[in-house]
Amino acid sequence: MCGIVAYIGPNDALPRLMDGLRRLEYRGYDSTGICLNTPEGLWVRKDIVRVDTLDQTLTDAPRANVGIAHTRWATHGGVTQANAHPHLDGPNRIAIVHNGIIENMAALKAHLIAEGVEFRSETDSEIIAHLIQQAYQGDPEAAFFVAIRQLRGTFGIAACFLDHPDVIIAARNGSPLVIGLGNGETILASDPQAIVSWTRRVVYLNDREVAIMTVDGARVRTLAGRAVDRADELLESDYSVAERGDEPHFMLKEIKEQSETVQRCLTGRIQVDEGNAKLGGLNMGPRELVAIRRVVNLGCGTSYHAGMVGAMAIEALARVPARAEIASEFRYRNPIVLPDALFFAVSQSGETIDTLGAVQEVKVKGGEVMGVVNVVGSTIARTCGQGVYVHSGPEVAVASTKAFTSQVTALLVFTLMLARTSNLSLEQGQRVARALLDAPARIAQYLANPGPIEQAAQAVVGARYVLFLGRGFSFPVALEGALKLKEIAYIPCEAYPAGEMKHGPIAMLEPGSPVVFVAPRDSQREKAISNMKEVQARGARVIAIHSEGDDEIASMAWLSIPVPQTEDWLSPLITVLPLQLLAYRAGVMLKRDIDKPRNLAKAVTVE
Ligand code: M6R
Repeated sequence: MCGIVAYIGPNDALPRLMDGLRRLEYRGYDSTGICLNTPEGLWVRKDIVRVDTLDQTLTDAPRANVGIAHTRWATHGGVTQANAHPHLDGPNRIAIVHNGIIENMAALKAHLIAEGVEFRSETDSEIIAHLIQQAYQGDPEAAFFVAIRQLRGTFGIAACFLDHPDVIIAARNGSPLVIGLGNGETILASDPQAIVSWTRRVVYLNDREVAIMTVDGARVRTLAGRAVDRADELLESDYSVAERGDEPHFMLKEIKEQSETVQRCLTGRIQVDEGNAKLGGLNMGPRELVAIRRVVNLGCGTSYHAGMVGAMAIEALARVPARAEIASEFRYRNPIVLPDALFFAVSQSGETIDTLGAVQEVKVKGGEVMGVVNVVGSTIARTCGQGVYVHSGPEVAVASTKAFTSQVTALLVFTLMLARTSNLSLEQGQRVARALLDAPARIAQYLANPGPIEQAAQAVVGARYVLFLGRGFSFPVALEGALKLKEIAYIPCEAYPAGEMKHGPIAMLEPGSPVVFVAPRDSQREKAISNMKEVQARGARVIAIHSEGDDEIASMAWLSIPVPQTEDWLSPLITVLPLQLLAYRAGVMLKRDIDKPRNLAKAVTVE
């Protein structure tokens, strides 16, 4: 998953390309590269550096009106300068940038090598430049089509041609591309954010489509060659770039915003008097809700963990069978999609290809799928057509924090709607509604007094292994805490349901091992205490996240981190906060790249 920008017009291409890349860096930041199409030749600069660093080296760049640019997240081939994009054909007259994976790379590459082509990189992407060159007989469009039709896999591609500076050609199959139509200029990008500074008039490319871009706009054809008549749209969302303010990292800023972002997700959606809620984007009244016999939350990573919490809440409050599924597994196991099931696609970015694939699988099988998405107008939101926006605002740090609490909140709001049609009386619904409305205050209360996070971070920083444990609603929280610690601090750790620990992972514990135990005062507390004793008996150090006033757990723990008391089903919104802070502080102590951890990307747009 990479970011692509391309520009053709009367203006200097360089600032437009670099501005676009900066906004797309969330898609990958292993390396950065640019190609400017000048009368003297295709001028390429690429390196294993971030966008800002490459920009500083471009003082000698020639002025050009046409160019393509790329920020990479490595799939095929290591993170090297040679593997950075753009890639050129043999004679250096065609340049391409690519997002995606070419699945028939081996066969195509073998064929090209047999024809005498010499490769300069280990990437699958370089094949595309050579295939176009092989087919080229003076007509770039014809050559592009011949080349692209040979590819299997996913791609977003942009190509420019030394002999044809009046054109850029792009193609999409599975990797998003949007074309911005300016005044006598045309810009292509992986995402509208890279375009909005220059124009808000856009055309989205669909899968298996090719765009022939000139200064006058874009002509779209299907891969089969049929002309497509696509009206342009006006981008209305707010694409303003988030500011870090005085905080040292976006991650910390986003953790601190959570009282406000959860509040935003609740605003206008809770009806206390009716003990009910309303999510307009679902277009569902009580009759549609009572017909739901099961709910499946699809997602990856943090979004999957939010889906787990949501599914547990639905079962607990609405007594409707519900489960969460990892989207990448769901899409390939020929899942059963029953007509009375409701599927939610949970995604911060709305661009995660595994979740998108799962959405498409549900649709193919005639199922009902709705988005629980943060980014407005994203691919998953548009593909679902209906759903809930979680409104957490732009999340910049690669480690998801505020999106998690907003996703959980949105699913809890849905739970109330569903539960009110079945299991909850008016009074019970009112109690749930009030508890939900109280959540932002409880989050603020904890964040104002987060407890001994620094000591907890010191304990995990030196550890060879950290175990996160929780039961019931605290198990997905434990999973989320371990994911955060891996992502940000690169500390080996795993999460288990606390009752499962004795079936294997307990063997990992040795005297002094830190065990982060999420144990609020809920229905599973007594069992959690027993598991805590089992841990202590092995000499491990328990860092307990527990409810304020729970002196029994506080006195047992090696380190006690009290959090405000809430209902069981609401507790993940609070208990996750110390775990986010723990990962953050551990990452800072270890001098990690907090907002852009190694090997990761904010939107995972490859399988
Ligand atoms: O944008 P999405 O919510 O669909 O992303 C899903 C995961 O890639 C994401 O949550 C990932 O696990 C985060 N880096 C977690 O912090």
